[in-house]
Amino acid sequence: MDGIDELTREERFDALVAAEEKVEPADWMPEAYRKGLIRQIAQHAHSEIIGMQPEGSWITRAPSLKRKAILLAKVQDEAGHGLYLYAAAETLGVTRDELVDHLVQGRQKYSSIFNYPTLTWADIGAIGWLVDGAAIVNQVPLCRCSYGPYARAMVRICKEESFHQRQGYELLHTLAHGTPAQHAMAQDALDRWWYPSLAMFGPPDTDSVHSARSIQWKIKRFSNDELRQRFVDMCVPQAEVLGLRIPDDNLRWNPDRGAHDFTPPDYDELKRVITGDGPCNAERMAHRRAAHDDGAWVREAAAAYASKRAA
Ligand SMILES: [Fe+2]
Ligand SMILES: [Fe+2]
Repeated sequence: MDGIDELTREERFDALVAAEEKVEPADWMPEAYRKGLIRQIAQHAHSEIIGMQPEGSWITRAPSLKRKAILLAKVQDEAGHGLYLYAAAETLGVTRDELVDHLVQGRQKYSSIFNYPTLTWADIGAIGWLVDGAAIVNQVPLCRCSYGPYARAMVRICKEESFHQRQGYELLHTLAHGTPAQHAMAQDALDRWWYPSLAMFGPPDTDSVHSARSIQWKIKRFSNDELRQRFVDMCVPQAEVLGLRIPDDNLRWNPDRGAHDFTPPDYDELKRVITGDGPCNAERMAHRRAAHDDGAWVREAAAAYASKRAA
């Protein structure tokens, strides 16, 4: 392929993206676009899978059969999200096995939020409300992402995330309007999950490595700080209905900006958690590796069955 053809392909790709059309797996795409998407979709898939752990540990301890059934369905949905996303990544020329290897070898990341512990039942409510809530704010714009398979996977994921957020909110609302001890438990969960949830939007725009290009290619639509602001503005009235206090003395409406002023999360802590030094990083990875090893016989049996049928 000579230089002129290369330019034409690139121009055609740029025009397609500019026209808000979808890039499909068979289309030519710049190598950096492909690699960047694999990194982002894999990280997203890994987050869904690792994200099952903090909540999964509460399935056996849910306070009623109804709560147990709801949580079981929710955690199962997260496994499904991981599968849709691994499948979307595979259309870019990697295999799910490779991506899972990258995760268990610690060569690809997952969301920092899942390295925090779930200490009480109220944490399950706080995760649904705040963590799934932040995921929705992040992910709704991804339904319009320029890469077709990722955008389509996100449509279904976002519908399920919205159920997740409501179940968490309803759980927390029940506790916040229960006994004083239950209210205190709900407040304590909000106190612990608020800033890690704000950190889910990533580093501030001034430090964000991948943002500018992602926005140019219409993978990302809004910057980290824009999405964080949107999340805070969404949570303030919801916290009022819950009767809980967001743990930020500087949180107030700013009429000039038409938005809330707030204290940003501790970005040094975010950096530490991302690089492996969070409260539960080692535990999450050990659990994931053990589950992967324990499941080896299932993968082998499935492969043997598939090859038998093919023969
Ligand atoms: Fe999910
Ligand atoms: Fe979710």
